[in-house]
Amino acid sequence: MTAFCASPGALRIVGLGPGLAAWITPEASSVLEGASDLVGYAPYLDRLPLRDGQTRHPSDNRVELERARHALRLAQEGRSVAIVSGGDPGVFAMAAAVFEAIDLGDPAWRDIDIAVCPGISAMQAAAARIGAPLGHDFCAISLSDNRKPWALVEKRLAAAAVGDFVIALYNPASKARPTQIHDAFALLRAHRVGAAPVIFARAVGREDERIHLATLDNADPGLADMSTLVIIGSSETRIIARESGAPFIYTPRGAGAFT
Ligand SMILES: C[S@@+](CC[C@H](N)C(=O)[O-])C[C@H]1O[C@@H](n2cnc3c(N)ncnc32)[C@H](O)[C@@H]1O
Repeated sequence: MTAFCASPGALRIVGLGPGLAAWITPEASSVLEGASDLVGYAPYLDRLPLRDGQTRHPSDNRVELERARHALRLAQEGRSVAIVSGGDPGVFAMAAAVFEAIDLGDPAWRDIDIAVCPGISAMQAAAARIGAPLGHDFCAISLSDNRKPWALVEKRLAAAAVGDFVIALYNPASKARPTQIHDAFALLRAHRVGAAPVIFARAVGREDERIHLATLDNADPGLADMSTLVIIGSSETRIIARESGAPFIYTPRGAGAFT
């Protein structure tokens, strides 16, 4: 299958995984190697090896739609374009921005040869570090209110808590949004048992990786920053204590009457 080569006039939306080079898929590596132009948030482009003849188009974090339009215009000009995202490009990332740009933009963009190359998302990498906390029903919620009202975040958090989902929190905090993670924890504590395991997985797959375990009642939400993925267990998520090292955390495959 050759559909994923970055051929002239094509655009590939490529997931780089959360940080570890070995977690980049062979497909993504091959597309990145063959592209004439790499488009993306500057720190993500910095993670990639330089190749002669390849042009880089770094941009700031907050300009996703403009970045997507730039990549589409380059493909329209006949370049072989790869636009990159951390993690999976379809999870709170560039794939949706590219399709939004197509939806709202030049009708000719609909006929560009476009494909998405998946990557390992932060929640998968974080879960793998500690066991299998996403082993049964879970949901992912971004705490960023840059493009949605905070009231909607609260509504979704409450629904997830009432539904007893394991919850993966993306974008838990930033310098501009230091307090929302505290509000989110207060809301979850009102709905969920305090013994639920909480995992703060910071910079997973990078040199400064740090995994911190807590329970909902004693967790310090201030541990989360913009490089952290937070997982909050359901009432069924369990901790296996070990003499020899960090505990395993998992959510059993059976729930309710099937446990
Ligand atoms: C804009 S979202 C991008 C998510 C990405 N597309 C993915 O699939 O992981 C950025 C958020 O992802 C999470 N994240 C990304 N990389 C991470 C890593 N290496 N370790 C922990 N969390 C990470 C953090 O919550 C961060 O604020």
